[in-house]
Amino acid sequence: MYTVNFNYSKLPGSYLFSDIAKRVAAYKEANPEAKVIRLGIGDVTLPIAPSIIKAMHKAVDEMGEAESFHGYAPDLGYGFLRDVISEHDYKERGVDIEPDEIFVSDGAKSDSGNIQELFGTENVISVTDPVYPVYVDSNVMAGRCGTYIPSQQKWSDIVYLPCTAENGFVPEYPKEVPDIIYLCLPNNPTGTTLTKDQLQGWVDYAAKNGAVIIYDAAYEAYISEDEVPHSIFECEGAKSCAIEIRSFSKNAGFTGVRLGFTVVPKELKCGNTSLHDMWARRHGTKFNGAPYIIQRAGEAVYSPEGQKEIREQIAYYMENAKVIREGLQEAGYDVYGGVNAPYIWLKTPKDMTSWDFFDYLLKEKNIVGTPGSGFGPSGEGYFRLTAFGTHEDTKEAISRITKNS
Ligand code: MLT
Repeated sequence: MYTVNFNYSKLPGSYLFSDIAKRVAAYKEANPEAKVIRLGIGDVTLPIAPSIIKAMHKAVDEMGEAESFHGYAPDLGYGFLRDVISEHDYKERGVDIEPDEIFVSDGAKSDSGNIQELFGTENVISVTDPVYPVYVDSNVMAGRCGTYIPSQQKWSDIVYLPCTAENGFVPEYPKEVPDIIYLCLPNNPTGTTLTKDQLQGWVDYAAKNGAVIIYDAAYEAYISEDEVPHSIFECEGAKSCAIEIRSFSKNAGFTGVRLGFTVVPKELKCGNTSLHDMWARRHGTKFNGAPYIIQRAGEAVYSPEGQKEIREQIAYYMENAKVIREGLQEAGYDVYGGVNAPYIWLKTPKDMTSWDFFDYLLKEKNIVGTPGSGFGPSGEGYFRLTAFGTHEDTKEAISRITKNS
């Protein structure tokens, strides 16, 4: 008789965003007339920019001709894409990341979930709290975490780094030194971030303690303040203690298209073992490369037209962020984020729990958001709204939330 991976039984029933989708679907079924506005999952609403669509069409046509047809993609990514990423995202910022340190993938979510495969199950992970649930769930699935403590809403042997209004959302260095440190900056869900000096502190901490940082920079394109780093590799020494994950979903609207990449520097070694070589081995074995058409679309993101168009889209979403932030502030809410990130993090009114506020907004205002406690224990009493809606929906949502609240 076969057995199953019992670690799955340690997980909560469903993934946070699936749980929310089910609740909203049930509400809609019972109230079909309700005009529900969705500011929950961070999914984009603007169509993919014209120059990127044009590049995709061209690539589709190439696939229809014998001379330009492409079969399996190189498993680490096409050179044309790795070259522009290295140049634009790193070298132009004075960061020396070579194309062969960049691994193209089908998105940051897959990479965030898969990267833990490089590490032994005995490693202790640490996460900022609240946190994007993929880091924790994927480590639980791999058997890296013991038991779930419902009363504390946390895993027994994960080191949580609380990020709340009290500490300005800046995590403190843990007393128990972890082996693997997940940092997502600009942060999902709080929309806050760290300055370069603060991030340098984490790099120094990891280097001193023999830890590795998994740095999720999916929201990098939304940074508006000068002192905020766009890549962990802007910090001295990061190439020997960090891995960086990036996405095309939020900057270029690829949530339904799927493209991302992970940078594993050649300098990153555990003893004599190169993590770069391990990730190449893993990619080669388990992945046949992101589709040619999509990688051409990714290349177009870096063209001058592509850059101009995606900058306009980012500005559109950041205008929404401003509407949410200022609208809620005027109505007396405590609001965070939304300056360097497309997420707004707010304190629930009247000490409501995150899920009570979720139910209140859904049922009384027909607005969907994400309860803070779904991201971890320190998210209790907070709530996340995304700026990825349309202008019209965003304004309407804020007007509904602030009316008679
Ligand atoms: C979120 O809403 O936190 C993200 O959109 C989910 C994701 O990127 O997987």
